[in-house]
Amino acid sequence: MGKKLKIGIVGCGAIGTSLAKTIYKDFKGQAVLSGFYDIDPEKSARLSKVIVRKDLLIAGSLKKLITNSDLVIESASAKSSWDIAGQALRSGRDILIMSVGGVINHYKELSILAKKYNAKVYIPSGAISGVDALKAAGISGIKSVTLTTIKNPVSFKGVRYVEDKKIDLSKIKKDTVLFSGSAKEAVNFFPQNINVAAILSLAGIGQVKTKIKIIASPSVTRNVHQIAIDSNGGTISCRTENVLHPDNPKTSFLAFLSAVAMLKNILSPVRIGT
Ligand SMILES: NC(=O)c1ccc[n+]([C@@H]2O[C@H](COP(=O)([O-])OP(=O)(O)OC[C@H]3O[C@@H](n4cnc5c(N)ncnc54)[C@H](O)[C@@H]3O)[C@@H](O)[C@H]2O)c1
Repeated sequence: MGKKLKIGIVGCGAIGTSLAKTIYKDFKGQAVLSGFYDIDPEKSARLSKVIVRKDLLIAGSLKKLITNSDLVIESASAKSSWDIAGQALRSGRDILIMSVGGVINHYKELSILAKKYNAKVYIPSGAISGVDALKAAGISGIKSVTLTTIKNPVSFKGVRYVEDKKIDLSKIKKDTVLFSGSAKEAVNFFPQNINVAAILSLAGIGQVKTKIKIIASPSVTRNVHQIAIDSNGGTISCRTENVLHPDNPKTSFLAFLSAVAMLKNILSPVRIGT
């Protein structure tokens, strides 16, 4: 049996906690948890207690966590993901990034750092389907990529764009387009869409050319992401209806599952899918 991969987690919220439980339970043959770090020390302490019933896995600092890990999982925030990724890569550690919106403008630097320090950057598909086909189609040349996000009007409560436009959500009785524009604009106006827009842009034709449409629909109860791709390899369309994470209604459960699937890929000798 080879050496176990030491995995450290930064950000012990819904995704970090779910990943820690899964790694401890399902990957124990191939991986070992090296520590948890959260800006809120109570959260890393609580997670350590949940996993090993002791304080053993609390990393006192981000630096310590990175030093003790082969792979760092960032599940913290878009504000901090670029800094965390940069620190991990400069230490020659691999990084798996969940808060993709925070690194979208640093993609080139991530690649340069990874190459320089012989480390890897992993970005799971997150809450959308179709990234595998988009990557394959990209080899042939892509003409257009459009993401249509459909949510119940109540999901847009408190969104500044909606407030600024004085849209009365309670009056929406049929499908209503709230926004149509580039991914670059969308991430500014709809920060809760930031990760899916970022992943799609990185996997495809970039944030200026990727188009985003946001629809408020009283007929949906789940957050829906529809993707339409026109490429020289064919036309592709897919729809994801997301179940919410039980511990964070802003996070899709599929985002956590996609990170587990990526870990499986990293740890497995056989890889299926693009
Ligand atoms: N890729 C995707 O499709 C996708 C989908 C959902 C969520 N996300 C992102 O994943 C991240 C985690 O999501 P979640 O639902 O677990 O959020 P959460 O709010 O439940 O947990 C985040 C945790 O990170 C901690 N944290 C914040 N900044 C930190 C920092 N600088 N250093 C250490 N810890 C820090 C917080 O204290 C909190 O405990 C978020 O940024 C979210 O936007 C990505």
